[in-house]
Amino acid sequence: MATESKSLGTLTAPRAFISGLDEHVGQEVTIKGWLYNLRSSGKILFPQLRDGTGVVQCVALKNTIAPELWEALKGLGQESALAITGTVRADERAPGGYEIDLRTAEVFNEVRDYPITPKEHGTEFLMDHRHLWLRSRRQHAILKVRHTVVKAVRDFLDNDGFTLADSPIFTPAACEGTSTLFEVDYFDGEKAYLTQSGQLYNEATAAAFGKAYCFGPTFRAEKSKTRRHLTEFWMVEPEMAYATLDDVMTLSERMLSYIAARVLDSRAEELKTLERDPARLEAIVPPFPRMHYDDAVKLLHKGHDEGAMETRFEWGGDFGAPDETYLSGNYDKPLMVHHYPAEVKAFYMARDPERNELALGVDVLAPEGYGEVIGGGERATSLQFLEEQIALHQLPKEAFEWYLDLRRYGSVPHAGFGMGIERCTAWMCGIEHVRETIPFPRLMNRLRP
Ligand code: 4AD
Ligand code: MG
Repeated sequence: MATESKSLGTLTAPRAFISGLDEHVGQEVTIKGWLYNLRSSGKILFPQLRDGTGVVQCVALKNTIAPELWEALKGLGQESALAITGTVRADERAPGGYEIDLRTAEVFNEVRDYPITPKEHGTEFLMDHRHLWLRSRRQHAILKVRHTVVKAVRDFLDNDGFTLADSPIFTPAACEGTSTLFEVDYFDGEKAYLTQSGQLYNEATAAAFGKAYCFGPTFRAEKSKTRRHLTEFWMVEPEMAYATLDDVMTLSERMLSYIAARVLDSRAEELKTLERDPARLEAIVPPFPRMHYDDAVKLLHKGHDEGAMETRFEWGGDFGAPDETYLSGNYDKPLMVHHYPAEVKAFYMARDPERNELALGVDVLAPEGYGEVIGGGERATSLQFLEEQIALHQLPKEAFEWYLDLRRYGSVPHAGFGMGIERCTAWMCGIEHVRETIPFPRLMNRLRP
């Protein structure tokens, strides 16, 4: 489907990028990229070129360019690789505000029959061609937002005095329950598991640095095919020594507000491409509503009484996606539900001293049905309590001895949370499914490409 590189004139002008054309108005530049689209109208060709930083329309007039260049350009298919040289002209009507009057070009790879065309394709087809789909405008915009979310998270935590201390990916034991563990053969018959959360290690680094975070790939053998679940996702997990549930809620609302502001500030173009209403993100400012689990259950009961919720929620259970959607539906900001029953939460959660059956945990539920974007809380400090919990959850004690050392040597109240980058990005973008927020998604039924 491709031919060798073909030179059709000398490209002598300095290289420029489409995002920086404003600095080159009136100058001749070379843009190296791929053919996004090609229109023709009699003796004029309008090749649209993309270079990763944007898309620009070029104008090639038959009677001002070499005849062989005209012939070559005329037949180029979508995603042909080419470099063009021409003069930048400001044009208010042009999509990016600039056009290029093409003088010459070099074709690196002539493409025919690019599989992804402007017509509609099914999601499975597009997911099978994810390696190519990434080039399309919408996917490009989503991943640009992701980059900004990641950058915002790092800047926020770095500026707030947190030390980046990444946690291991091979781990000897479960952190978030044994049902979603991916098992790996380590050496000499030993089993290892891909990390479900760096939290336990963060508790060690928080005792070393005061405030620490890890940020990396996280694995869950989730047997659920929902729009919120990946088997491999990226999680940022801050952890603070001498901190409480309340501190976690405050940090969550500050961090999410910061992320939204950064996305609004640096991704206005992308939000436009995604048809995301910026007002949704402008609303994400502190304070966020805080709701006790008991009150959340009352609200769900009200929803049931009014016919909005099909089944009557039973106190003690964890919320499902419809419950979360209903609860957060009353707010245009994230809703922080705290004090969940300990029964539905992880073994390490601290208990409410007044009501032992409740855990000092919080889930931050994003508006618009995006559900839980952050989960966290205060950690148990007592050695004896944790020994009991480890036994109760049938976890291998020897794999947790190092963790228990943290309670033997300098145990203090401490707290933290985890935020999934993909869920946060999907929410920022206003898109349906987390699978489009990571370059190569891993799902229960998808390991390729
Ligand atoms: O609520 P989770 O399971 O919390 C923890 O793992 C804690 N140990 C974190 C901590 O306190 N340090 O997961 C935290 C967040 C969720 O709120 C969600 O955003 C994301 O991780 N997440 C997933 N994202 C995509 N796919 C999945 N399968 C996810 N599971 C959790
Ligand atoms: Mg959770």
